[in-house]
Amino acid sequence: MTEIMLSQTPAHVRHGSNIGQSFTRRDGALKVTGAAKYAADHHPPGMLYAVLAVSSIARGRVASLDVAAARAHPGIVEVITPANRPPLAQDPDERSDLFTFRLDLLQSDRVRYANQPIAVVIAETLEAATEGAALLSPRYEIEPARVGLDAAESFVPSAVGPGFPAQMHRGDVDAGLAAATRKIAETYETPAQYHNPMEPHAIVASWDGDRLSIDTPSQGLTIAQGRLAGLLGISPDNIHIRSPFLGGGFGCKGLISGPQVLGVIAARVVGKPVKLVLRREQMYGPVGHRAPTRQTLRLGTDRDGRLIAIDHHTKTMSSTFDDFFESASDASHTPYASAAIATSHEAVRADIGTPMFMRAPGEATGSIALESAIDHVAQACGMDPLAFRLRNYAEVEPISGKPFSSKALRECYRQGAERFGWERRPLAPRQMRDRDGLLVGWGVGTATFPALMFMGNARAVLRGDGRGVLEIGAQDMGQGAGTALAQIAADALGLEIDRVEFRSGTSDLPDAGIAGGSAHTATAGMAIHNAGADVIARLAELATNDRRSPLFGAGNAGVTARGGRLSRSDDESRSESYADILGRAGLAQIEGHGSGAADAAAQSTYAMHAHGAVFAEVKVDPDLGQIRATRLVGAFAAGRIINPRMVESQLLGGMIWGVSFALHEQAIMDPRSGRPMNANLAEYHIPVNADVPSLEAILVKEHDPHVNALGIKGVGEIGITGTAGAVANAVWHATGVRMHKFPITLDRLIEPR
Ligand code: MOS
Repeated sequence: MTEIMLSQTPAHVRHGSNIGQSFTRRDGALKVTGAAKYAADHHPPGMLYAVLAVSSIARGRVASLDVAAARAHPGIVEVITPANRPPLAQDPDERSDLFTFRLDLLQSDRVRYANQPIAVVIAETLEAATEGAALLSPRYEIEPARVGLDAAESFVPSAVGPGFPAQMHRGDVDAGLAAATRKIAETYETPAQYHNPMEPHAIVASWDGDRLSIDTPSQGLTIAQGRLAGLLGISPDNIHIRSPFLGGGFGCKGLISGPQVLGVIAARVVGKPVKLVLRREQMYGPVGHRAPTRQTLRLGTDRDGRLIAIDHHTKTMSSTFDDFFESASDASHTPYASAAIATSHEAVRADIGTPMFMRAPGEATGSIALESAIDHVAQACGMDPLAFRLRNYAEVEPISGKPFSSKALRECYRQGAERFGWERRPLAPRQMRDRDGLLVGWGVGTATFPALMFMGNARAVLRGDGRGVLEIGAQDMGQGAGTALAQIAADALGLEIDRVEFRSGTSDLPDAGIAGGSAHTATAGMAIHNAGADVIARLAELATNDRRSPLFGAGNAGVTARGGRLSRSDDESRSESYADILGRAGLAQIEGHGSGAADAAAQSTYAMHAHGAVFAEVKVDPDLGQIRATRLVGAFAAGRIINPRMVESQLLGGMIWGVSFALHEQAIMDPRSGRPMNANLAEYHIPVNADVPSLEAILVKEHDPHVNALGIKGVGEIGITGTAGAVANAVWHATGVRMHKFPITLDRLIEPR
């Protein structure tokens, strides 16, 4: 195995006590007192209200809109339709790269999916705009909607997820299956799901000449800025985006959406600030969702219960006009060893809004099918499902052949099982009942998520008063990123955390890339770390070259930055404060820059993943089929933990989402109209407090020297993977019924398939 050198060994050692501390959220008090201003809380003087009119059909064209009736309503200022929408600098149907998706910006009267924007009504009040939109009374030429995974001929997409190959293999799966002593072939279905952050997409846009200023939630400020600049034909420098708080993102705020752009267009048309907020049902179409899948897994083992073939095939769905393909089969690339492994995808096009990245895109969807199938083949082998996983978890990533941190995974299995009490689990199903006669079942699932990094930049400043400023256009979706990154900033500058001003969340700051892919802390964190190293190196240069400094000539010995002082690394009694160094040099401040990105050499040598094992208990009413998840224990190894409190909260949130995936969430499409029938939070079920079981997330210690100099892996999405499958497997253990359609609802449990 090639050993690699870390390319990011810090120029000077910095010591701090901030990384690793369970600080509470820096913005917590603002949020609980209502002082945190979210996008829709802004009311610039003279602001008008825009409301979208959206299509009630899934396919056809808008034959007429009663614009006159809307305009006649008191308080209406303007009605924008395809007939009068001002020209854009770029065709919204142009797809220039992987991350520029097609948008519906009133470019024609075509309707491509239900809830597509067909007009924007602007008024002096929200009520007037809402009424005006209702008065448009659209008439449609309706064409039959194509709905479901059998809507059309399928095809092999040119890529899945963010540009992954649709088909991959290693070894000969068919030969493996032919030689297998035990094998299964099972098909699983997962539904369409919608992101549903508490805060819907919202924008307050103001124009001043050709300068645009907006308040809107965004997981990626620079990407949003670039997209808007292209569409509007202005320089990105003329666009200022403020996104200090997001009320959840989950991927639907990763790229700027059509409705947000329509808010900007509306403000330009009326020449006044405009607010546009999506109603909940308007989020079921134009802002992305998780596509449904039908996945077939064929697994084969030898006589010792070792996997010798894994074949994972996914059929999924995209829109008729754009390409996003849920990469569910790729979940089989990583957790389990097998000499032969093949993954493939096919897709159909239907009359839906384009699917999008949604919280563990591909991984969550694929994981529930894979973990269900692994459990099933373990049963075929007569093995305990944990023992089967311990025999089969991968030491090297099967698809790439690259080594990764499998020891950490083993530790997750061990600690999770011990805490859960797994050893008391009877092998056969339907063996356990609680005092009320409910069937009790225990299940396990393996969690895995790639340790990704994107590109990010940061600027660090040390001021003459010895305080520091760290600037990065990072985003906090509510998970506590701002707190964790401020901790990294303090250590990067060798300062106490309250002596560092941490600035983030606006587009005028250095580009932090996207808060997605569970990569933000690693990416932004490394940018901060390197910016701090840069400014400390400059400071050390000043001191070690100055005869008047106690650090003069310490260049070779090295200096340590801690608590606002530089000291000789070999003799800490020789030290000087930052303020004194800067003061003597006559400098008001010095500035440093750094960037964060994946280390290409390390990435080509190692497969990088966070790992975990999730154990679930469910209780099922034997007569009524009612299912409750009652207890979850997850053990996760995710490299260095910056803030255990935030990380535990992220993991618990992911596990709750896993329960939701297994038992609650689904969008139901009306096959006649192509409309989502439960486009609201009453009928689109997500767990409420009563649905959330006793939860525990164990942080398994892991030191991974290869991912990045700080050893950070992501924790945002891994909690969903493993959990959903563990719950499904617990349902089998309680009832003896293998479920193939998710979510597992009581009707499906009583009458499987
Ligand atoms: Mo996400 S789907 O990486 O916000």
